[in-house]
Amino acid sequence: MGIIFSIVAAKADDDELEETYKMSVYVHDYSSGGPNSTDIAVVGIPGKIWSFTQFGTLFVCDDAITEGPEPNSEPVGRVQGISVTTSLEGIRALVAFSIVFTNKAYNGSTIEVQGNSNQFDSVREYGVASGTGKFLYAQGYVTYETYFFDPWTSYAVSRCNISIRMPPRHHWCTLIS
Ligand SMILES: *[C@@H]1O[C@H](CO)[C@@H](O)[C@H](O)[C@H]1NC(C)=O
Ligand SMILES: *[C@@H]1O[C@H](CO)[C@@H](O)[C@H](O)[C@H]1NC(C)=O
Ligand SMILES: *[C@@H]1O[C@H](CO)[C@@H](O)[C@H](O)[C@H]1NC(C)=O
Repeated sequence: MGIIFSIVAAKADDDELEETYKMSVYVHDYSSGGPNSTDIAVVGIPGKIWSFTQFGTLFVCDDAITEGPEPNSEPVGRVQGISVTTSLEGIRALVAFSIVFTNKAYNGSTIEVQGNSNQFDSVREYGVASGTGKFLYAQGYVTYETYFFDPWTSYAVSRCNISIRMPPRHHWCTLIS
């Protein structure tokens, strides 16, 4: 397993300093609606076609994250969450998802992402609201860029860059018994 995060500002064991992490990974999304889909429209406005450009359509995804762009590249985790088309003309969507790590270094930890973007922008940007495990008190943002798209199979690979920081550990709230 290669090094995914570069810790820019501090050593992880130094509780006086802010920790800053950057990571670039790839997300594999299958949205054909067929049996192996990982991103599916589950509800929408009755009588309308449930598509990502139709206001009110809600998708649920469980997409694989890998270190490189190839589907068989080293697994890092999953993107599990929802996307709702929230602008009336169908351009913008609200997303809320967890980056659930399954790799050795961060197994079980999560980064919680929420945001709203123009779905047609070449780079979509979302806020990082929080995290769990190794990423307690995380703040930052992620970008999504389409890296590859096969319209025949509705298979998309996006590059997801994660930039987060965590306050110095001595600022963390701790339970006092
Ligand atoms: C779904 O995945 C299975 C196992 O990888 C594969 O055998 C099958 O052909 C796939 N089906 C479709 C419709 O892609
Ligand atoms: C991650 O944790 C799960 C459950 O604790 C375990 O089954 C799995 O082997 C772990 N994966 C890695 C890569 O360490
Ligand atoms: C994402 O990271 C890669 C590799 O570091 C970089 O080449 C690319 O420009 C970044 N994308 C954005 C939108 O910042």
